[in-house]
Amino acid sequence: MKIFAAPLQGYTEAPFRHFHAGVYGTCGGAAHAYYTPFLRVEHGEPRSRDLRDALSPLNDNHTVVPQIIARDAAEFSMLTDLLVSGGHTTIDMNMGCPFPPQVRKGRGAGLIPRREQLLNIADLMHGKAEGGTKFTIKMRLGIDRPDEWIENIDVINSMPLTHVTVHPRVARQQYSGELYLCEFADIVSRLTHPVVFNGDLRTPADIDTIASRFPTLVAVMAGRGLLARPSLIAEWREGREWDRDKRIRHLLALHDGVRQHYETTLCGETQILSKLKTFWDYLEEEIGHKTTKAIRKATTLPHYNQAITSIH
Ligand SMILES: Cc1cc2nc3c(=O)[nH]c(=O)nc-3n(C[C@H](O)[C@H](O)[C@H](O)COP(=O)(O)O)c2cc1C
Repeated sequence: MKIFAAPLQGYTEAPFRHFHAGVYGTCGGAAHAYYTPFLRVEHGEPRSRDLRDALSPLNDNHTVVPQIIARDAAEFSMLTDLLVSGGHTTIDMNMGCPFPPQVRKGRGAGLIPRREQLLNIADLMHGKAEGGTKFTIKMRLGIDRPDEWIENIDVINSMPLTHVTVHPRVARQQYSGELYLCEFADIVSRLTHPVVFNGDLRTPADIDTIASRFPTLVAVMAGRGLLARPSLIAEWREGREWDRDKRIRHLLALHDGVRQHYETTLCGETQILSKLKTFWDYLEEEIGHKTTKAIRKATTLPHYNQAITSIH
């Protein structure tokens, strides 16, 4: 079974993906594919920093699937064409973003009930698929109710998709609360496309549990679990958990790569620090409360580095 790395805006940009694949790839722990945070249209234009990320030279050592978020066929077409002209051959469409401003505009999870727009997008997808572009979608079950997908499942099934990734929550839940696993089983049985599971996979055992409960899955996708435990895929592949020493050694190697990258590409201590601090947002359990606090409080790079040195 494949394991994909989920997109997380602000976390899984090109430097994280690049150094994750570099450090963990040597022990079978790179993701089969890394999905980029979504590329979106802002003030009628594609957001340039999203585009830079999708086209970054740091994408050279791993398989990258750029994701787009679109509210209609026009946005879908603009963003897809840009990425295809930049050399991408597979595009993921976001139908799961729960942020109210996006949902209200009909993007992300807001697209789930919008049949007409979905039909238009499906038409465009068919044309572009004939030209060789592959598509996937990443979706939730609905905005408020976990059965909202049912109404448009025929449209989703009519799209030329390689797979559908499902995060079995509704937008109203954002990123916490019970996963709707029974409804997930329903959507798996109704989708004619291969299905990928995404949600709350934190340990190798979590992956095994989902894989055995849903044996037809072609892959799982890990987001926060991979940020909290970047060795997750390597451990799962090896079939045994790493001891803490090994986890920390690799984690620090990953951090070194990311740190060196930001130190040489960003200007000014404040900018570098704010970017580096986010690296630790999901790692408190691994490095402890005291170190996490010291990292958050650091106002200079020497203070930050001192906090990092205490990790062992
Ligand atoms: C801070 C943050 C940013 C996210 N950005 C994206 C995004 O750009 N595109 C997307 O499809 N999902 C995004 N997600 C959702 C994740 O990809 C994933 O579906 C969700 O976190 C559940 O999976 P997990 O429990 O493995 O993290 C984001 C989630 C978080 C917490």
